[in-house]
Amino acid sequence: AGKRTFTMIKPDAVGAGNTGAITKMIEEAGFKIVAMKKTYMSKERAGQFYAVHKERPFYEDLTNYMSSGPIVPMILEKDNAVEDFRKLIGATNPKEAAEGTIRKLFAESIEANAIHGSDSDENATIEGNFFFAEIEKF
Ligand code: CMP
Repeated sequence: AGKRTFTMIKPDAVGAGNTGAITKMIEEAGFKIVAMKKTYMSKERAGQFYAVHKERPFYEDLTNYMSSGPIVPMILEKDNAVEDFRKLIGATNPKEAAEGTIRKLFAESIEANAIHGSDSDENATIEGNFFFAEIEKF
């Protein structure tokens, strides 16, 4: 089995009806979906998820935005999952994202940037556990 990463399709992309197109790109890139659901974060829960960004100037806007509509979190599996997935999604700012990346294709702005990808194996585990119980991961 490969390694795992965590992703979340954000409210802008879910609201625009891009969940299917993005999920197709993820599967075609060789990631296996281990867990997936459509759910919602309250502002308080979004604050917990992004607690590492608490001191950043964009924290308030970010937690408002992330609680503005439904999201689709997933746990994904592939060799070299964390790094390969960050390549597939592209830079945080869609203006800097490479051609053919998910953010280049679907992101609206640096904040409403369509999708999240964990930045380390350790955070992938923490973030996956934030949304999914053990029995949901198979
Ligand atoms: P992500 O990397 O998934 O997690 C942190 C999020 O904060 C990031 O995506 C963006 O949605 C948001 N973010 C990061 N940098 C900025 C910024 N400079 N201005 C606004 N939002 C940002």
